[in-house]
Amino acid sequence: MTVTIVGSQLGDEGKGALVDRWGGDADVVVRYQGGDNAGHTVVEGGEEYKLSLVPSGAVRGKVGVLGNGCVVNPRTLFDEIDGLREKGLDPDVRVARRAHVIMPYHRVLDGIEEEVKAEDESGTEVGTTGRGIGPTYEDKVGRRGVRIGDLTDRETLRERLEYVVPQKRALVEDVHGLEIDGTDREDAFDVDALLEEFAEFGERLADGGMTVNCSDFLHHRMQAGDRIMFEGAQGTSIDIDHGNYPFVTSSNPTAGGAAVGSGVGPTVVGQGEVVGIVKAYLSRVGSGPMPTELDGDEQEEALADFIREKGGEFGTVTGRPRRIGWLDLPMLRHASRVSGFTGVAVNHVDVLAGLDELKVAHAYELDGEVIETVPATAEEWARCEPIYREFDTWDEVDWTAVAEAGYDALPEATQTYLAYIAEEVDADVYAVGVGPDREDTVEVVNPYEKQ
Ligand code: IMP
Repeated sequence: MTVTIVGSQLGDEGKGALVDRWGGDADVVVRYQGGDNAGHTVVEGGEEYKLSLVPSGAVRGKVGVLGNGCVVNPRTLFDEIDGLREKGLDPDVRVARRAHVIMPYHRVLDGIEEEVKAEDESGTEVGTTGRGIGPTYEDKVGRRGVRIGDLTDRETLRERLEYVVPQKRALVEDVHGLEIDGTDREDAFDVDALLEEFAEFGERLADGGMTVNCSDFLHHRMQAGDRIMFEGAQGTSIDIDHGNYPFVTSSNPTAGGAAVGSGVGPTVVGQGEVVGIVKAYLSRVGSGPMPTELDGDEQEEALADFIREKGGEFGTVTGRPRRIGWLDLPMLRHASRVSGFTGVAVNHVDVLAGLDELKVAHAYELDGEVIETVPATAEEWARCEPIYREFDTWDEVDWTAVAEAGYDALPEATQTYLAYIAEEVDADVYAVGVGPDREDTVEVVNPYEKQ
């Protein structure tokens, strides 16, 4: 019995609130892709926990698994676990032995590549989180990565590092023409220092019984009757395959990633529920096209500022102000098809209350043709002109009371907006987010109760 939570847009759709809510009915919460580029805040017992890697279910006493599709920075992992322990929790976190390790040189290379792209004015810098995500997945695909399983075997770890570190050194020194020795980059390229630090992480992982053969682990948990939740990070439009390449992250946040990134069959994911999380408008933290962006004139910029402030649209990991736009249906149709949504949760509808106008891009015009889904290249996407539909706006109401009373208590205009989204993505509305707290959710369907 599985529920998969997928971001439908560009990340930051408020997946955490639903993972938190429905994860209460799960026994095991699995992240299947990404690393410490994700960010979520969990509030439990009046205490706030900011996490970027550890699955939020671990705060609530569930088993939190980092699947083989993840890239894991052990420094972040143990910082987060230690932080939770200091607050009196005892998180149960397991890490796939097949997951790849983000090494310090990956973070250095992430920074250098972004700087190079920014300097050559090609406009191709991605605006990454700087966490080393891309360079780590590059090494995975290049078959020169270091995996979690290697950390618990010192000799293998040494062999891997002795092979890969000189290549990374050459990349920095010979390709990019930058110094390593005598700079603050030095430790990141020192095989002995890396070996000491990461073998120690390996010991800690082994001593804590934290590493698992993910597929086998989940198989046995499911056989024992446990309920699994797959927690996607980021979103469909920054998926390496289905997103807005090259302005993407380097993994598959879409539902197929849940199977590949954890070692369960696609049938297991497909027989469960796949819930797309939608923000009622759009936000983007990195670069790349955004046809509905509110940046055309002063009035649009003022509206974007209003939504940004009200919705708290600043990056959780980086603190960067997010770009803001109207809801984009071509993006949502694409997301629903790629992941096969059985339901959607629409968040942040309270943020749109009290506006003078409300628009949605129903389709695009591209080179004189009307299209209803996202084109395959970023260049085409950048040429798309939104074809808008206008909706009635709704006023501010007591959202907490609405959350308690249920769907029918939502303003009529909000219900019209939601019904339109559901129709266009061909999936039912399972939940509506009406405020930042866990309680501020109108639940229509609990996906665990549907099965
Ligand atoms: P990376 O994942 O750090 O390589 O960044 C690649 C792109 O994905 C950049 O545009 C980031 O801003 C974006 N990104 C990565 N993680 C998140 C996230 O959790 N939410 C929203 N955008 C993200």
